[in-house]
Amino acid sequence: MLNLRVMQSKIELYTTEIKSFEPKTAEELERFRIKFLGTKGIIKDLFDEFKAVSPEEKKVLGKVLNQFKQLAESVFNTFKEGFDAAVSSGQDASQDLTLPGAGLEIGSRHPLSLVRKEIVEIFKRLGFVVAEGPEIEDDWHNFSALNFPEEHPARDMQDTFFIKKNSGKDDIALRTHTSSVQVRLMEAGKPPFRALMPGRVYRNEAISARAHCFFHQIEGLYVDENVSFADLKQTLYYFVQELYGEGTKVRFRPSFFPFTEPSAEMDISCSICKGDGCQMCKQSGWVEILGCGMIDPNVLENVGIDSKKYSGFAFGMGIERITNLKYQIKDLRLFSENDIRFLKQFKSELV
Ligand code: PHE
Repeated sequence: MLNLRVMQSKIELYTTEIKSFEPKTAEELERFRIKFLGTKGIIKDLFDEFKAVSPEEKKVLGKVLNQFKQLAESVFNTFKEGFDAAVSSGQDASQDLTLPGAGLEIGSRHPLSLVRKEIVEIFKRLGFVVAEGPEIEDDWHNFSALNFPEEHPARDMQDTFFIKKNSGKDDIALRTHTSSVQVRLMEAGKPPFRALMPGRVYRNEAISARAHCFFHQIEGLYVDENVSFADLKQTLYYFVQELYGEGTKVRFRPSFFPFTEPSAEMDISCSICKGDGCQMCKQSGWVEILGCGMIDPNVLENVGIDSKKYSGFAFGMGIERITNLKYQIKDLRLFSENDIRFLKQFKSELV
């Protein structure tokens, strides 16, 4: 009697399974066939077990088993016909037309664009307007008007990508800094000037994690009567508090640029370790973010501005550096490789 009961309850369980079977693909149906109707399948096993039951039990069980076999076969055949029909009408079971379409990937702003926008917004609040200039520049705008002496190393082939190199005066090059836009702006108008000039610049450097042959700068220029170094400091101090948060410290170190006098480099307390010392600030607690200074009177005269009446300040910063400090990006090359896995991370800041 034991065999009979065990077999009957097994068949009952399998019957429920078969009745609720609804394959979505032909593969699923094939797995069903192998499981129940295959040569090593459940039905074959049940018939083997059937041989061992007593003759009286066979009478009852034989009928049940045959009905069960027919059920499995008819379920299989019904679905098989369905799938075969779909294939012959050119419709694949995997092509369910009622499924929602694959979503369109929404692009994201490049981190450098996001940071540029943020910087521009801060200076706009101080009345600065945005100006732009060409990336291919002549010697005058990139060097001579900016008071670079003839033999200045920045004019050297090592740093500058020349497009045309002759005597110096007629040279054409990819601009090495956005300071060239200062010259264009001042030549084209009359003081006062209060402008921010973002753009791409080029230098002949080997590409590595820390250097690239092109990068992005934002130049700032303020020219009016009685502009002093105090104005420069306060403007940049405001900028840093806005960008990196209140309490960020700044310090100015004396420096040299041909077009500013006096010149300085500005450091901020490291935004990553807050001054404690980390890899980004090389354990010093400070990071340099820009060069600045009072516009050299020679530059003002070169562009036709009376340097006795007017004075001004200028500054220039690398957008990559500012972005690295904000997002802790350790390899400059990521900015220009267009790797979607990198770019996708800035999606939440789509503006
Ligand atoms: N042009 C300088 C550079 O590329 C930065 C700078 C701009 C310095 C304006 C002073 C004033 O390094």
